[in-house]
Amino acid sequence: MDEEKKVIFSGVQPSGNLTIGNYLGALKNWVLLQDDYRCYFSVVDLHAITVRQEPKSLREKTLEVLALYLAVGLDPEKNTIFIQSHVPAHSEAAWILNCFTYMGELSRMTQFKDKAAKHQDNINAGLLTYPVLMAADILLYQTDLVPIGADQKQHLELARNIAQRFNNIYSPTFKIPEPFIGNEGARIMSLQDPAKKMSKSDENENGYILIMDPPDVIKRKIQRAVTDNLGTVKYADEQPGVKNLISIYSAVAGMPSDEIENKYKGAGYAKFKQDLAEALIEELKPVQEKCNDLLKNKDYLKKIYSDGAERAAKVAYKTLRKMQKKIGFIPYLAK
Ligand code: TRP
Repeated sequence: MDEEKKVIFSGVQPSGNLTIGNYLGALKNWVLLQDDYRCYFSVVDLHAITVRQEPKSLREKTLEVLALYLAVGLDPEKNTIFIQSHVPAHSEAAWILNCFTYMGELSRMTQFKDKAAKHQDNINAGLLTYPVLMAADILLYQTDLVPIGADQKQHLELARNIAQRFNNIYSPTFKIPEPFIGNEGARIMSLQDPAKKMSKSDENENGYILIMDPPDVIKRKIQRAVTDNLGTVKYADEQPGVKNLISIYSAVAGMPSDEIENKYKGAGYAKFKQDLAEALIEELKPVQEKCNDLLKNKDYLKKIYSDGAERAAKVAYKTLRKMQKKIGFIPYLAK
């Protein structure tokens, strides 16, 4: 029965504190998938080191992301939750796939160009081959569907091309993954510049709200969020700041934007912002409490990631062995 479920793979980098963009755009929606799909959720630490990380912070962030996966309600029995570097098949498959990916394909990636411009002192080869590692993540699990935001579409497209290329050269080895278009997985923008995606690496901390931000910080950041001088709570492109706040409200309250518009007809921004802040604080409170509890219980987290890695490795190595065999490597480990 479980065999018939479609496979989903997704991951979050432990490269900073997660924002409500990660929560409302990804994590909260993943919880809805766990009964109907066979899901793999990874903390992608190998990806994180394409940008320099402080070792202590990387360690903390990795456990924090893992704890957040659990805190938002992902069930470690139903899903395979693991830390990417614990399954070396990812690195091994990425090397092989590197040899089936062209320089031109990689140097054309928008995210590479953006990150290279941002980290000019560290344009390392990993930054360039980042999408190949992502392809390995996805392809090792014979993934059907990948829930991703718009910024990762190009990477998924490349993963599909690499998979097709490998399948064509040898014989069918990988399932060709599709993007998962869920129920309008909210795209949350910066509170200070609603033309930009909300990002944990924004230099202006008023641009984002962290999942772990305390109530007074959430209130302050919402109060300071840019709006406009039209004074109407309307979900319209001419009002990008207000539109973004409505998106957040909508994702938190599960209320469609037109209902929110009606509710705040003639109310002005102050009341709207106040309610939004309160709703957000209420929404995040149980997640924060659960996360803090989990982080105190390192043994439990260790059990979760050890089990996860073991389960993930079984599946990943099966695909890796297939790849190695087709390429012509001499079989060695009898896994
Ligand atoms: N690159 C993704 C991001 O930054 C994270 C990621 C790594 C991922 N591997 C993945 C997402 C595989 C989906 C599937 O958002």
